[in-house]
Amino acid sequence: MHTISDNLRLDKRRALPDEIAFLRAKYPAPQWATHGNYGELAAFWLQVHDALREEGRALGQATEDFREGRTDMAAFQRVFAVRLRGYLQHLEGHHRIEDAHYFPRFRRLDERLVYGFDLLENDHEIIHGQLLAVVESAQAFMQDLARGGDAMRYGADAYAERAGRLLALLEQHLADEEEIVIPTILEHSERPFR
Ligand SMILES: [Fe+2]
Ligand SMILES: [Fe+2]
Repeated sequence: MHTISDNLRLDKRRALPDEIAFLRAKYPAPQWATHGNYGELAAFWLQVHDALREEGRALGQATEDFREGRTDMAAFQRVFAVRLRGYLQHLEGHHRIEDAHYFPRFRRLDERLVYGFDLLENDHEIIHGQLLAVVESAQAFMQDLARGGDAMRYGADAYAERAGRLLALLEQHLADEEEIVIPTILEHSERPFR
């Protein structure tokens, strides 16, 4: 595993440099779906990412609705913990499959891909750390809910801030990963992944 240079860490970077996303210019995103090598795996990958974006935003919206007084506490409490747990499990499960199954296959395709996939695996570690912090702050928030009043509001603020940070990191990771994964599949076809 390469050590990832500080400016390329998920919490520092704004985009991937061309040396890492070296097939990005050859396969622009608007043309992905019409390419001859675009198959089930690429489509599934993007679907999972869209689902993760969607679930993350919906959870953020649910928290926002509660903070703005658009949902009552009982209704929020009934679904919040279950939805959050489901979402985090989905996210962790996806990263586990990538780390264990897909990333090693990508690395074997082309030596120039190794650094990029080490970087994406490092993103997973950073996201995992943030995810633990979100779980901790969600647990504190649930206790604050029972107390009500200011404690509840502060708990909600602290949780929303943590969850927002996780979501921003995840959005960056998903977009960057797509810029490496999909062009590589188009270049090599889906055969090496079967
Ligand atoms: Fe990933
Ligand atoms: Fe992914």
